[in-house]
Amino acid sequence: MTDKKRNITPLMKQYLEIKRKHKDAILLFRMGDFYETFFEDANITSKVLNIVLTKRSTEKNKDTAPPLAGFPVKAKDIYISKLVKAGYKVAICEQLENPKLAKGIVKRGVTEIITSGTILDDTLLKEKEYNYLMSIYKDNDTFYIAYIDISIAILNVMKTDKDSLPGEIDRISPVEIIYPDNINFENNIAKPYTSIVFDREFAEKELCEYFKVANLDGFGLKESGYISACGGLLSYLQEIKMETLPRIESINLIDTSDFAILDKKTMDTLDVLPGAETEKPSLLKIIDYTVTTMGSRKLREWLTFPLIDKNRIYERQEAVGELTNDNRILNELTSKLKNISDIERLNSKITNARIHPLQLIAFNNSLKIIKSIVDEIVFETPLLKRLKERLKFDYSIVEIIEKRMNGTDVSEYGGYIKTGFNEELDRLREIAFNGKNWIANYQSEERIRAGIPNLKIKYNNVFGYFIEVSKSHTGKVPEDYIRKQTLVNSERYYTEKLKKFETEVLSAEERAEKLEEELYAELLKELNKYSKSIVQVSKAISEIDCICSLAKYALSTHTAKPKLSDNSCIYVKNGRHPIVEKYTESFVPNDIHIDSDERIMLLTGPNMAGKSTYLREIGLIAILTQIGSFVPADEIEIGIFDRILTRIGASDDLSKGISTFLAEMVETAFILHTATSRSLVLLDEIGRGTSTYDGMSIAWATIEYIHNNANRNPLTVFATHYHELTRLENYLPHLRNYCLSVKEWQDKVIFLRKVVRGKSDRSYGIYVAKLAGIPENVIKRSNEILEMLEEEGKITFRKLESKKETAYQMELFDKRSHIISMIKSIDINSMTPVESLNFLNKLIKEIEDLN
Ligand SMILES: Nc1ncnc2c1ncn2[C@@H]1O[C@H](COP(=O)(O)OP(=O)(O)O)[C@@H](O)[C@H]1O
Ligand SMILES: [Mg+2]
Repeated sequence: MTDKKRNITPLMKQYLEIKRKHKDAILLFRMGDFYETFFEDANITSKVLNIVLTKRSTEKNKDTAPPLAGFPVKAKDIYISKLVKAGYKVAICEQLENPKLAKGIVKRGVTEIITSGTILDDTLLKEKEYNYLMSIYKDNDTFYIAYIDISIAILNVMKTDKDSLPGEIDRISPVEIIYPDNINFENNIAKPYTSIVFDREFAEKELCEYFKVANLDGFGLKESGYISACGGLLSYLQEIKMETLPRIESINLIDTSDFAILDKKTMDTLDVLPGAETEKPSLLKIIDYTVTTMGSRKLREWLTFPLIDKNRIYERQEAVGELTNDNRILNELTSKLKNISDIERLNSKITNARIHPLQLIAFNNSLKIIKSIVDEIVFETPLLKRLKERLKFDYSIVEIIEKRMNGTDVSEYGGYIKTGFNEELDRLREIAFNGKNWIANYQSEERIRAGIPNLKIKYNNVFGYFIEVSKSHTGKVPEDYIRKQTLVNSERYYTEKLKKFETEVLSAEERAEKLEEELYAELLKELNKYSKSIVQVSKAISEIDCICSLAKYALSTHTAKPKLSDNSCIYVKNGRHPIVEKYTESFVPNDIHIDSDERIMLLTGPNMAGKSTYLREIGLIAILTQIGSFVPADEIEIGIFDRILTRIGASDDLSKGISTFLAEMVETAFILHTATSRSLVLLDEIGRGTSTYDGMSIAWATIEYIHNNANRNPLTVFATHYHELTRLENYLPHLRNYCLSVKEWQDKVIFLRKVVRGKSDRSYGIYVAKLAGIPENVIKRSNEILEMLEEEGKITFRKLESKKETAYQMELFDKRSHIISMIKSIDINSMTPVESLNFLNKLIKEIEDLN
């Protein structure tokens, strides 16, 4: 009654009821061949998708009709991906019954919700990247991170601390993050989610139920934070994906201490990953020779998670070495891997019954190839041997699929289930197939009987089968023809015989199709039991592909296998920048020598000399080493780093001003606080973002700090054009000056790109000015000013030296006062003779240390 009063159509009523439950999503309301949106959803949709905003023409009162925007179901993938990419949550509301059979309004319901982190469609997923949804749970100072690409059946979980959290998020680079709504968490892609589901008890119950286990001991999730993060994530997924959620097979506990830390800044600076501009050269591009999509995803992960364990790195090196030595195996493997489909994602599609029959056939062919690797290829080194072991599982799955599925050449019936597998299916197909012959026969029979040569038997969706006779022949039609429809040029009829045939054939066809679907669903269900093994197999295949890729990289250019050292050091003979060398005609190789004795390399040289390139080369060589790769060099011995930290000074763009400089200092401070004696620190033009004196002072003090901090002395490369900083070498024993050599020749400046011990030529800048045509007087005056400044600099430097002295004196004074307070604090009367003797000895030792 009230609805009628408000003039709401039953359809709108249904819409509003569903929309009420999905207020935070764009509701795509299925109407025939279209998805429609209404009200505010329609405004957003029309804007984001650039489609027209209209009103329903059937609505009685057009003024009060809601705005509407829709698109054809056929174009679903493109439009949904646009909405999701624009950051919207999309709820898909389908027709739940056949509209032809529905009484009244068609039943509708939401069957799936899509957010950026819960995408399943191939067209929306990037082939070569994981699409991670992440949940974050905080317990005191520890952060627990669970993350999953739901197109792949593994849930990953790790823990970290506040300082490392941003770095971990960066390298996993999720597209969506959820966190309990009772904590504060700042991140532009993070959304709060009800905290109840993160509660230990609730989460544990959810997980146990999902994995059908009595407790979670088998997963090794000892700390309740892990359980909360995983449980919260699972609850969210179940709410969002409902029936469409693929089976999650296992939980993978990641120990972050197994990997060197690479934050986003470092990855960006060193161009480790392609980033948004895919055309930009990157380390990944240089080393990516993978031939499977699983492999390329894995290689990306390897690059962002460099290893720390020497043995694991060594094992990868060995494996790469085996393949570089044996071209035959490498070629054979490649030709096999090349034909393997993305079984990692196809496997998930089997578990939620979304796999297309043709994809299932590709899946099966891939398994056959993998089996041939198991049967035919023999590996020598431990890692490859182990990976091959992991490819072994119950290959009866291949026969199960083969027995039921037609190959890529679809059967004569157009179906995908093989003839001979199911009797009933064969019988129905026979009827349906023979029906076509029957029609042909019937048509020629009737042509003769009626004496109408152009009589035709046709079919359409509305009338089914009918006999069509052109107007000029209608006089001749037999008595038993029953008229069905009159057209301009022809009449349409049916006969009892035709009608009877139609019901039989059509129902046979329909029943065959339905039965085929049922058989297919049954098959997929049966295949579910292999899912867990397939997860392992695909992981192993992707790793084998990565090793092949590294082998091909090693062969693609002149490389050396790094000798791994237990000490913090980098000794390289003729090293090259792995990326720049590919884009530079004659790249000049350089040596690298840094270790705990000479742990700070101060690199000077004029602009464009090659400082940044050399500095980055050092970082990239370290990363390549730690993923198990060979590196572009003649020879290399290198230690293993716990993290690589970089800071590249703000660009010359001073318009950005103080904020850039502030950011630079914040990051430098972070590096100074987090670097350990096992770290590699790369600082490029620190202090450039401010005035010369400011900048130089900060650079100076930063270097002193790193040098003198006894607890944290990372290997450091410091590139700067402040040539004055080279004076530091005089009193910092672990600092060494290096510079990029430059030569003047025939009025030209030649960058030799050679890194040599010592400092660069200070007069160089003025020399360039002269070459550029600056008047002679200006050059003369510049030289005078430079001389004055340098004189002043010398005085300043002496002062700095003496300041260092006072600092030292202070230290001495501190020690003296410490001894005095030691003496003051004792109570002779309460001491035994032995104790007094001991005290005296201690005192003597302290005083000895003073000298
Ligand atoms: N070893 C090298 N061999 C050949 N070209 C190099 C080498 N190092 C650097 N370059 C080229 O020199 C240019 C300047 O290098 P860059 O490292 O940016 O200099 P800087 O940091 O000293 O200003 C770049 O275009 C780079 O490609
Ligand atoms: Mg530079």
